[in-house]
Amino acid sequence: MVWSCFSCIGGHQNKSQKSMNESIDYPWEIYTLKELLQATNNFNKDNKIGEGGFGSVYWGRTSKGVDIAVKRLKAMTAKAEMEFAVEVEILARVRHENLLGLRGFYAGGEERLIVYDYMPNHSLLSHLHGQLADQCLLDWKRRVNIAIGAAEGLSYLHHEAQPHIIHRDIKASNVLLNSDFEAKVADFGFAKLIPDGVSHLTTRVKGTLGYLAPEYAMWGKVAESCDVYSFGILLLEIVSGRKPLEKLPNGTKRDIVQWATPYAQTEDFDQIADPRLNQNFDVHDLKSIVTIALRCTDGNAESRPSMKQVVAWLKDGLSTKKEMPHLKNNETPHVDQDEENYEKNHTDREELGKQQFDDGGIWR
Ligand SMILES: Nc1ncnc2c1ncn2[C@@H]1O[C@H](COP(=O)(O)OP(=O)(O)OP(=O)(O)O)[C@@H](O)[C@H]1O
Ligand SMILES: [Mg+2]
Repeated sequence: MVWSCFSCIGGHQNKSQKSMNESIDYPWEIYTLKELLQATNNFNKDNKIGEGGFGSVYWGRTSKGVDIAVKRLKAMTAKAEMEFAVEVEILARVRHENLLGLRGFYAGGEERLIVYDYMPNHSLLSHLHGQLADQCLLDWKRRVNIAIGAAEGLSYLHHEAQPHIIHRDIKASNVLLNSDFEAKVADFGFAKLIPDGVSHLTTRVKGTLGYLAPEYAMWGKVAESCDVYSFGILLLEIVSGRKPLEKLPNGTKRDIVQWATPYAQTEDFDQIADPRLNQNFDVHDLKSIVTIALRCTDGNAESRPSMKQVVAWLKDGLSTKKEMPHLKNNETPHVDQDEENYEKNHTDREELGKQQFDDGGIWR
């Protein structure tokens, strides 16, 4: 299936192929290399927005004046090409206001380019821990809206997309922000399609340290509940401004759940709030979000809520101040997400908690 979307272009597109694409009304556009070179000023270094495991991302403006982000595959390996194909295939299937929109792609010769809507407020990561962190643009209301938006995007993937989709790389750098600071979940290169009736799959581990559910990190057991776990980590990160994993002075690592749990158990929720909020947050909302996050990160996958439930809790609980789920006494130990335990596929990008792992492709 992945390759069927490319069979129509065979690596190079021509006029008749392009018109075929238009007449069938695919949700994406097949760009020419010339168009994308012009839009990005020949992938000029001044246009570069950032770099990830897949390659570099460039800002560009099309001849029609539309701002775009172009992701450029850095090396043509089989694995990278599979990631490219999965990303295009999945994005072409999904449409939701909280998922990053695919505008199109180019595949020809040694070039693989994916064209997205440009997100002027970059990633959640850049605001929490990156180059925009000092500007403190994420007030409480924006954080809550981002949490709800990301939850809705994920809930759509798990419950509405056909077949259901497990993202497998939910993290702050994969939540992008549009001009109104609304969340758009991005990066489907690691995603898996789950046919009806299949409860879980076993795969080699992909994803990012600090966000991996224990059963997935240890046994490669992947289900929607793995995304729920990663989302719980993301929620704690959003409210606290802390990284998913921190190195303690004695050299050991502590994850954000281990850090937040004692405060939640003693109801010291203020201690969890990001100091950059300057106490400007709603304590009831904070308590609700932390409680939901701890439910999402339950060590037992079966005890985690569904994303549908999480959206309902976030929306109802926060707006109507309804009672939230109670904190469970979660005794299940967390796995240590240390680099030594995993097969690493990218170079260390420790400062952003971005070590990744890899398997052979999507389920089919
Ligand atoms: N559509 C977009 N609009 C604006 N910025 C974007 C867009 N897509 C990606 N970026 C930015 O480009 C940078 C690189 O993104 P990319 O997804 O390649 O890597 P990453 O998410 O940082 O890491 P990983 O490879 O682990 O996913 C990120 O900082 C992200 O904020
Ligand atoms: Mg990304």
